Amino acid sequence: MGFVEDVYAEMYPQLFRSGGLVNPIEGYTLREVRIRPVFSEVHPLGADLSSQIGPVKLNFPLLSAAMDAVSGPDMAKALFEVGGCGVLYRDPEAKVQLDWLEEALTHKPCLVSEPKSLHQDQTLANVQDILEKFGFSTIPIIGRNRVLVGVIFTSEISFKKHLSDPIKKWMKPRSQLKVEKVDTPFETIKNRLLNEQECSVLPILDGKNRFQGIYFMKDFFVADPTFYNDKPLVGIAIGTEKSDLERAYQALEMGAGIIVVDSSHGNCPDVIRQTEEAVKAVVERANGRAAVIGGNVADIDGYYRLAQAGAHGVKPGIGPGSICTTSQVTGAGVPMFTLIRELDFIRQKMGANAPAIIPDGSIEGPGDMVIALAAGGDVCMAGKWLVAASESFSCRTYGVDNEGFVQYWGMASSKAIKARMSRSRYQGKTAPEGVEGRVRHRGPLRTWIGGDIELIQGGFAHAGAANLAALHEFGNRPIAFVRFTQAGQQQIGTRLD
Ligand code: XMP
Repeated sequence: MGFVEDVYAEMYPQLFRSGGLVNPIEGYTLREVRIRPVFSEVHPLGADLSSQIGPVKLNFPLLSAAMDAVSGPDMAKALFEVGGCGVLYRDPEAKVQLDWLEEALTHKPCLVSEPKSLHQDQTLANVQDILEKFGFSTIPIIGRNRVLVGVIFTSEISFKKHLSDPIKKWMKPRSQLKVEKVDTPFETIKNRLLNEQECSVLPILDGKNRFQGIYFMKDFFVADPTFYNDKPLVGIAIGTEKSDLERAYQALEMGAGIIVVDSSHGNCPDVIRQTEEAVKAVVERANGRAAVIGGNVADIDGYYRLAQAGAHGVKPGIGPGSICTTSQVTGAGVPMFTLIRELDFIRQKMGANAPAIIPDGSIEGPGDMVIALAAGGDVCMAGKWLVAASESFSCRTYGVDNEGFVQYWGMASSKAIKARMSRSRYQGKTAPEGVEGRVRHRGPLRTWIGGDIELIQGGFAHAGAANLAALHEFGNRPIAFVRFTQAGQQQIGTRLD
């Protein structure tokens, strides 16, 4: 037997004993399993969630699904700001995808470059108008040649009596404002805003005092970007054609941190070859300073083959996605919890350089992520969870419907297939393996992801894990996971009317 067969035999001895099993092995989803809370000295907000894919570090272990509903440039910028990484989906022409990459790579996290602003000769009535329409309470006042002359803080004004007063009478003038230069590092700005007295905003000025944008303290509470190659960490997905490799070369030269070789069935010669080529390109063109992820797989053989090809990360997940009907219509798939445990098992046999495990599909929020990471995952990829953000491609394109929902559809849904067929590049399957639906809109990512991050830290704390390495150690304890019966699963949700 080869290495993979030996690992299977060790993992499932009952299958390989003479005669084997008549019935199949059981596979569990992330939803029917929970981690067991144990003795813990970890503060509920104390866990370090950072993770690693080959040479690439992430402060928050989340990638956006490479889907046309989810991952355009705005998602890449927003997810980077909170420590994760957006993966630009691969369908557009190379120029479009690379333009998006450039836009995301030049993004200045948290900088509001075009805030609502006013002129000093306008009146408080104009200020009130902005406050009422948009809810903005801090307004830069810009003079001739875009020179900053002051800032209005509405909390300091009683509007009723003074509506006709000129702004200059009420603004805080430039001489009393704290400001920063254009090229000030992000960490300096963050430090000032979070620690300095009377520094709730920082206008940015160029050498000639011209206004270039403004930072707001509230945007920094969850901001934790990891810069990579001195640029925002951004990924692109590619397919298996030669032209896809060409765009990967350009992306690496531009500074992309992650290349995902993206296929619905990744344990096949085309994906393995493309992964190998992409890894070579990372060495040659990015000096080894980027990560290649291959996927998706649903067996340890796929993980092993992609590891042999040099992949820094491998994505398990065929069939579990929220919009996915593959298991139903093709009869193929493995539930996510069991699949991650299997990959973790072979990973431990392979030693320190084995690829990161990046579960993809059915991770819809903090609880799913904690279980996926405890089972052996290093970084998760999510579609449904993130499409709810204002920055998702769907929300940017179609907006929010009257009932407050954002559209979401699978990459193999009829909608996505039709969109691809309208472009000449597409020659492929036409039978859908995905569906369309909708997800409740949650607003800009940074306004809600901080709460989700707290819940994930809470999960780590329940496991007594101060970081991911400790959570993996916990996950390998025999008592770590409990499978809930159907009655137990009913009990997980609220039972109040
Ligand atoms: P979630 O559960 O995060 O899943 O919404 C996102 C992942 O699902 C995969 N995907 C699909 N799988 N048919 C499928 O069988 C589809 O139409 C489809 N679209 C996306 C993909 O791996 C994605 O990251």
